[in-house]
Amino acid sequence: MATHWFKNAIIYCVDVDTFKDGNGDGIGDFIGLRQGLSYLAGLGVTCIWLLPFYPSPGRDNGYDIIDYLSVHPALGDLGDFAKFMDEAANRGIRVVIDLVVNHTSNEHPWFRAAQRRDPRYYSYYVWRKEKPPNTKDQVAFPGQQSGVWQYSRSAQAYYFHRFYDYQPDLNTANPAVRDEIKKIMGFWLTLGVSGFRVDAAPFVIAHKGPEAEKQPHESFEFINEFREFLSWKKGDALFLAEANVAPDQMLQYFGQRGDRMNMVLNFFVNPHLFLAIANESPEPLTRSLLQVPTIPEESQWGYFLRNHDELDLSRLTELERARCFDVFGPEKKMQLYERGIRRRLAPMFSGDVQRQLLAFSLIFTIPGTPIIWYGDEIGMGDDLNQPERNSVRTPMQWSEENNAGFSTAPAKKLRRPVIDFGRFDYRRVNVRAERRDPTSLLNRLERMIRTRKEYPEFACGKYRLLESDRTDAIFAHACEDEEGNAVVAIHNLSREPVKTKVRLWTDKLNHAVFLFGEKDDATVVKKDLSLELDGYAYNWLRLKSREVAVGKNRRVKKTTRR
Ligand code: GLC
Ligand code: CA
Repeated sequence: MATHWFKNAIIYCVDVDTFKDGNGDGIGDFIGLRQGLSYLAGLGVTCIWLLPFYPSPGRDNGYDIIDYLSVHPALGDLGDFAKFMDEAANRGIRVVIDLVVNHTSNEHPWFRAAQRRDPRYYSYYVWRKEKPPNTKDQVAFPGQQSGVWQYSRSAQAYYFHRFYDYQPDLNTANPAVRDEIKKIMGFWLTLGVSGFRVDAAPFVIAHKGPEAEKQPHESFEFINEFREFLSWKKGDALFLAEANVAPDQMLQYFGQRGDRMNMVLNFFVNPHLFLAIANESPEPLTRSLLQVPTIPEESQWGYFLRNHDELDLSRLTELERARCFDVFGPEKKMQLYERGIRRRLAPMFSGDVQRQLLAFSLIFTIPGTPIIWYGDEIGMGDDLNQPERNSVRTPMQWSEENNAGFSTAPAKKLRRPVIDFGRFDYRRVNVRAERRDPTSLLNRLERMIRTRKEYPEFACGKYRLLESDRTDAIFAHACEDEEGNAVVAIHNLSREPVKTKVRLWTDKLNHAVFLFGEKDDATVVKKDLSLELDGYAYNWLRLKSREVAVGKNRRVKKTTRR
């Protein structure tokens, strides 16, 4: 069993500017994040993924970078970053950062020089002289972009931009650009990061420019090149791809020998998981799990529920997508880019804690590494008055104090307004309040995290889907490690209570210990594990062989008799 740290990690994704404001100017920063480390350590987080924190005009939440080797002045300086890294290390928490090298900001000095036709930097970007054809169908953000080419008057040419027009694509086919990327990686590794989340990975390695329109193609060897550099600098570094690709493409990102990305975010299972919850049936989830490839042993999937972007439903059929819209985001203002939902987890589930836990339990037990979007652990809401994806990027709700305890600045100076309305108002939903309530989402999730860490079988074990007599409602699977330790997770996706028999694969493991709830151990009769689950309930069980358990008891009895 390959036991890389990231396989049994609990990753927590943070946007520094909305997490905690340490100096009272209304913007979250590294001082605040450092103060927040106690909370994250208490929750059981083992790795923080930082969204971009680099100098940026901030038109795409920091994904438009003007300097890769520095910290946005509003968030602190490199000294604050180093101090934060130090404290995180003291807490045993690793840090991975966003590597956004598909494009720069159009205000990046490289692009400014390129526009002046500086020979060194011109070829850092992708150009065409002739008027481009209609490229509406190639944009990343339908409704926000009209095409992927933008005219630059000073360069007298069109530059390529997969995303917004202020994000010119870097020409990764140019070795000088790939050297810059390695320089960026090397820099942050030296400052102690444990790896990178590679933004828009398929586009980073795609052939770009006029030729690519005829013949789309990726250069996977670029990933090998970056990974080799990474492994040489830091052997156990995490290389995590944002790659929203079809199942038949996924394996290429890992590489047959696991020599490319060592983790890929599973954007295929994700929407199917939501569809399964919408339909109260495990079928879509099971189907999607059977469709994704088996990955190399040292590699890992990254599983998430919501993230900083829209919930992307483009991998579903039109009918399935319509179903998810119906259940989770029926109003137009909840939808985005003709494919997704711009809401947080809790409001999608109408605040139902049990269903939120059910969803978390799925990503904690399906082999892979769970990733939590900050605030979802307390069931934060969204603000649909914010444009596009900013709806899910409001300040962390720490307490019922002013500005949700996020900042001491006057409310009008906040990076974004806190949620002070409705069911998810910060005076109701906040860390402090949930900490006091033993049945809160936060406390139950903390326990789930602890339990998940106790059973690394969920992280690296072989897994098998289990049959039951209630396949209409029950999703059951087992994870087993090489030493024969086995755990089972059983989820009731329906709102109705269910009594079920789950069929195990062996008759050797005939004793089951519940890992949640005050329940007596269960006996497995002829491979059948019988149990009852409330609506939307789940449970995890550790399997043992009864012979061993009874044998021990007998010995105890004998000794007492003597
Ligand atoms: C990724 C990010 C998204 C960003 C885009 C362009 O998809 O997740 O937030 O807008 O890349 O960098
Ligand atoms: Ca600040």
